[in-house]
Amino acid sequence: MDTLELATRKLKHLDVCLNYPVNYQTRTTGFEFYDLPYQALPETDLAKLDSRCTFLSKPLSAPILIGAMTGGAEKAKLINKNLALAAEQLGLGLMLGSQRVMLEHPEASESFAVRAYAPSCLLIGNLGVAQLNRGYGSREIIRAIETIGADALALHTNPLQEALQEAGDEDFSGLLAKLETIIKEVPYPLLLKEVGQGLSKEVVNQVKDFGFAALDIAGAGGTSWARVEEFVRYGEIRHAELTDWGIPTAKALVDAKQVTPAHTLIASGGIRTGLDIAKALALGADVVAIARPLLAPALDSAEAVIEKLQDLIDELKIAMHCTGAKDIAALKTLELSKR
Ligand SMILES: Cc1cc2nc3c(=O)[nH]c(=O)nc-3n(C[C@H](O)[C@H](O)[C@H](O)COP(=O)(O)O)c2cc1C
Repeated sequence: MDTLELATRKLKHLDVCLNYPVNYQTRTTGFEFYDLPYQALPETDLAKLDSRCTFLSKPLSAPILIGAMTGGAEKAKLINKNLALAAEQLGLGLMLGSQRVMLEHPEASESFAVRAYAPSCLLIGNLGVAQLNRGYGSREIIRAIETIGADALALHTNPLQEALQEAGDEDFSGLLAKLETIIKEVPYPLLLKEVGQGLSKEVVNQVKDFGFAALDIAGAGGTSWARVEEFVRYGEIRHAELTDWGIPTAKALVDAKQVTPAHTLIASGGIRTGLDIAKALALGADVVAIARPLLAPALDSAEAVIEKLQDLIDELKIAMHCTGAKDIAALKTLELSKR
């Protein structure tokens, strides 16, 4: 695929994500079925709460990553710059979008070169696992990390999205063995993520001992990439049931925690409020990632991204305060009740 084609597809993705109803229609994250334990006498001071944590050996001011979105197109350069400035100012982590375009077309590297704006933030690169069946290996992964000075790289797996994408990658066979080998060859932390259909407990079980630095369960209930691909391809949804398929984020998280309690976990897919963040942490996540809600602010300015994220942090702190959790460690020990 040439640069223009890849960049055009990226622009279509952005347009659809901004202007079409790409959220799941009949499926929710499931966080609404859980309640945090409200405490009328919490013994905490809202102004003194500590939302800091450490993730992949880097300090974060709150357990939040900006989710993987984009790169390549000119518009993506502005988006990534504003996301990077916001991540740096707030002390949060930043996951970039797929770097395939820059590996195949080095001129696209500029849109991923965000270290100038975010010299100290936790920066996570991105590639698709399906590329491992198209000749990519540890060399390409290391190049993707080192070219942009990332701390780690997330490999995304997305069979449903690819199946619905025009000329998408169809061959996901043999990937487990390749992943197991590649992790040993890459001297940087690697993460595995879905894109919003969720990692099932079977998949978590298959990869739990591979050595991934974290698993991002990326469940259903937020952005449906199956819907995005159908809008890009047809301008309409032709397979309503298929595009609403996925493992609700809360379920994927609870299942993953059960399969591998000590594994570092990211909860993402439909994280929209500070309460979602608090519930995800209480259910076993170490951090959350938020993607599409930050897209429109990122096209506007770094300040708009900061405003959106600050609102989520403030809401998270109110949730912590009213449960009596003075820090993230305390938040993680809360027992949620099921409605
Ligand atoms: C515009 C846009 C582009 C995305 N591109 C990528 C990508 O390149 N690689 C990836 O792993 N995930 C990508 N995603 C998926 C997100 O990282 C995330 O898993 C998904 O959108 C669900 O989270 P959300 O409900 O918070 O949007 C993209 C999401 C958006 C909104």
